[in-house]
Amino acid sequence: MSFGLSRGKDLDHGDFGITADQLPAAEDGPFDPRGWFEQPANPFELEIGSGKGTFLVQQSVLQPETNFLGIEWAGEFFRYAADRIRRHQMTNVRMLHVDASEFIRFWCASGVARVIHLYFSDPWPKSRHHKRRVIQDESLRQFHRVLQPGGELRLVTDHPELWAWYENHAERNQELFSRSQFDSPESAQENEVVGTNFERKFAREGRPFHSMTLHRVGD
Ligand SMILES: C[S@@+](CC[C@H](N)C(=O)[O-])C[C@H]1O[C@@H](n2cnc3c(N)ncnc32)[C@H](O)[C@@H]1O
Repeated sequence: MSFGLSRGKDLDHGDFGITADQLPAAEDGPFDPRGWFEQPANPFELEIGSGKGTFLVQQSVLQPETNFLGIEWAGEFFRYAADRIRRHQMTNVRMLHVDASEFIRFWCASGVARVIHLYFSDPWPKSRHHKRRVIQDESLRQFHRVLQPGGELRLVTDHPELWAWYENHAERNQELFSRSQFDSPESAQENEVVGTNFERKFAREGRPFHSMTLHRVGD
């Protein structure tokens, strides 16, 4: 499917976009993605499903000492976001073109991330597609593994049924995460929860939003 995002321009992700063929072999076991950044010792945050990369572009300038990895499986969105990051020369941001759930499960080392952001994830409303939702019991176990002690999973959605799914998963995984209210990032504008593209589109339609922060339990 084409979303016409490039408007006929060649999108160039340069060194800011990382593709699946650049990953080490899965059989070699997990590796530390912080090595992709110029300052690998800096705090590290992941965004799953970055779309056009608006959250990354807005927030990374306010947090220059944090490295952000956006993961996007749709090629057109990946190329659009990575090109945008290259044009802004955001050296603390990289885009990765893979399935985030697989990357986190099979490639990402333990205890590396301070925050995982998941904003306006696809709701997959049909029952037979629920297994495609990013939040699952298994993915929560994996997020717990890759987060550092004190780390956070930050969730926002407009979709009432996906919100109920999040609440159920939070409720039955309390040994992994404790729930609190969501505090908007500094880059959010007045009356915004985060300020992503989908949030702005849905806000124009008058949809209400739901949000929570899940704090990693344990050392
Ligand atoms: C509804 S859009 C939201 C985009 C952006 N977060 C926003 O709020 O504007 C969901 C995005 O997540 C991506 N996505 C969904 N599941 C994914 C996965 N498992 N790995 C990587 N990207 C995923 C989709 O391709 C899509 O770009």
